[in-house]
Amino acid sequence: MTEDLCPKMFPTTQLEEADGDGHNSSLNPTMGEIISRRFSRRDFLQGSLAVSAIAATVSPVALMTAEKARAATGSAFSFPEVEAGVDANHHVAEGYDADVLLRWGDALFPDSPEFDPVNQTAEAQARQFGYNNDYVGFIPLGGAADHGLLVVNHEYTNPHLMFPGLVKVVDGKLEQGPLTQEQVDVEMAAHGGTIVEIRRVDGKWQVVREGKNNRRITVNTEMQITGPAAGNDRLKTSADSTGTKVIGTLNNCAGGVTPWGTYIMAEENFHGYFMGELPAGHPEASNYERYGVPEGSYEWGRFYDRFDLSKEPNEPNRFGWVVEVDVSDPNSVPKKRTALGRTKHEGAESIVAKNGKVVFYLGDDERFDYVYKFVTEGTYNPDDRAANMDLLEAGTLYVAKFNEDGSMGWLPLVHGQGPLTAENGFASQADVLIETRRAGDVLGATKMDRPEDVQPNEVNGKVYVMLTNNTKRKADEVDAANPRAENAFGHIIEISEADGDFSATSGKWEVLLKCGDPSVAEVGATFSTETTKNGWFGMPDNCAVDSAGRLWVSTDGNSNEATGRTDGLWAVDTEGDARATSRLFFRVPVGAELCGPLFTPDDETAFVAVQHPGDGGEDWGGHGRPSYYEDLSTRWPDFKDDMPVRPSVLAITKVGGGKIAV
Ligand code: FEO
Ligand code: CA
Ligand code: CA
Ligand code: CA
Repeated sequence: MTEDLCPKMFPTTQLEEADGDGHNSSLNPTMGEIISRRFSRRDFLQGSLAVSAIAATVSPVALMTAEKARAATGSAFSFPEVEAGVDANHHVAEGYDADVLLRWGDALFPDSPEFDPVNQTAEAQARQFGYNNDYVGFIPLGGAADHGLLVVNHEYTNPHLMFPGLVKVVDGKLEQGPLTQEQVDVEMAAHGGTIVEIRRVDGKWQVVREGKNNRRITVNTEMQITGPAAGNDRLKTSADSTGTKVIGTLNNCAGGVTPWGTYIMAEENFHGYFMGELPAGHPEASNYERYGVPEGSYEWGRFYDRFDLSKEPNEPNRFGWVVEVDVSDPNSVPKKRTALGRTKHEGAESIVAKNGKVVFYLGDDERFDYVYKFVTEGTYNPDDRAANMDLLEAGTLYVAKFNEDGSMGWLPLVHGQGPLTAENGFASQADVLIETRRAGDVLGATKMDRPEDVQPNEVNGKVYVMLTNNTKRKADEVDAANPRAENAFGHIIEISEADGDFSATSGKWEVLLKCGDPSVAEVGATFSTETTKNGWFGMPDNCAVDSAGRLWVSTDGNSNEATGRTDGLWAVDTEGDARATSRLFFRVPVGAELCGPLFTPDDETAFVAVQHPGDGGEDWGGHGRPSYYEDLSTRWPDFKDDMPVRPSVLAITKVGGGKIAV
């Protein structure tokens, strides 16, 4: 077995931590190592500056009880804060229930087989809830807040946590053996998305297995490529001479639900699924280098030619798009909407602008990559769903330039305008879209610290940009919008579009929050002084705005080593004196990140997606060694010896009912 061992450790875990510009992340220290080296709180407190630094960064107000402080500053949230920390279980604020709604392997249809982790098959997985739930959306049915379709992305797979007998410990580190074709097929069926009917009965959410819209989308679901790049030669393969038909979707991270009720699945780290080498002199070489293709984390190319560049050199151009799914028909063909560009799309949250155009905000999750938005050409018709179904076919894609003076511009990615011409290698709009990143480069867009979720807020008219971290930014690369070198903990930018018009081509911006431990002066975090030791966080990733316009932030990358806490869901004030006050509402079990989060229209339920639980735990005293199928740091959520850890979506509700955090 040793000779055949895969040379890479935890390939998909590293894939999730997006790397910069095509460098192989496998040689990089983990985020936790970087942080502990650079910002060790323990070491820092032993230093002579400790007392004066804390005195300088914590005002006397912080010494008041948190409740008194909140009352004094007018926080928009009311709940008893969770204590930050690390352990094997999840924790929600007192007075709330966090009920498991859907676990990896749960049945979605009347004929779904029961989950049997030691006898997994691709056929069974394709009828069950997939792995590593990320985006969560809710599409009400019949206008009711207690009945609807839950749509969930399944971003990636962790073979060392999924399959028995796959890894062994060598010199304290896990070594993973090669996957069988059946295991690869299970992985492909565990990716994609779930559409499932749910209903709230007597206060508790239930899955409706008989739901006629229930559906699994996988890496084997046929999709259509639409929009300006459809049919371009660069999208043609031996299996598809038209350049319009593609099998599957990859690495669906965050997403969105459109105003007309379709489900958006964003394709993020698609580069990791490709292996092999391009034929010598192939014209896509520089394009692929810009996207880090191939990264070779997955083994699918050993069994399927479409993931091997030497056999299907154009296939990677067919991924990295925004996918739109009509959830009203379980046989509808999902559409890859090329008008929204090809990047490592984190998500695609949308809002209707004053002029009726629909605006989609898009983050490209890579160090030094860009923030985009797409403005539809047509306008939204709230009374005619069918009339909206192709709004994503035409419109203008813009990339953000954040100026030092707090102004910003949205630069159009339109062929023939500015430098986007044939002289610069863009022969058509298709080229601009296939090489969206390079188009942003030549336009001079602002290089950001890994853009994640970008969320418009209808209530206050602002837009919130999660920038998760970028430890590669050097001191001479900082700018006003990315103000910290070696930005280990990330920050959040607040955009105000000109005249409150989400379709505007200019606006203003400011930093809402620089994240990290505010008691360590060197970190430079800017949480309000009312934020408690539980309330600060690092690495913002996803976020949600509830119907009251309040901001909720979920994180990816906190750990015992990095921040002394797991990831979680934080309530972040944006208004008045309480601005930049954060409080911990929910936290995940060891090894997990928190995705989702999503509030139902009545604000009575928060759905959260606990992704990759048990992936880690070496740095936590409760485990202290590598975590894998046979020796897991947690067996959440079942805590049964014969059940592996299972990524799951939870429904958080107030005990006895009512709106959350009021
Ligand atoms: Fe899949 Fe950008 O997190
Ligand atoms: Ca994410
Ligand atoms: Ca969001
Ligand atoms: Ca993530």
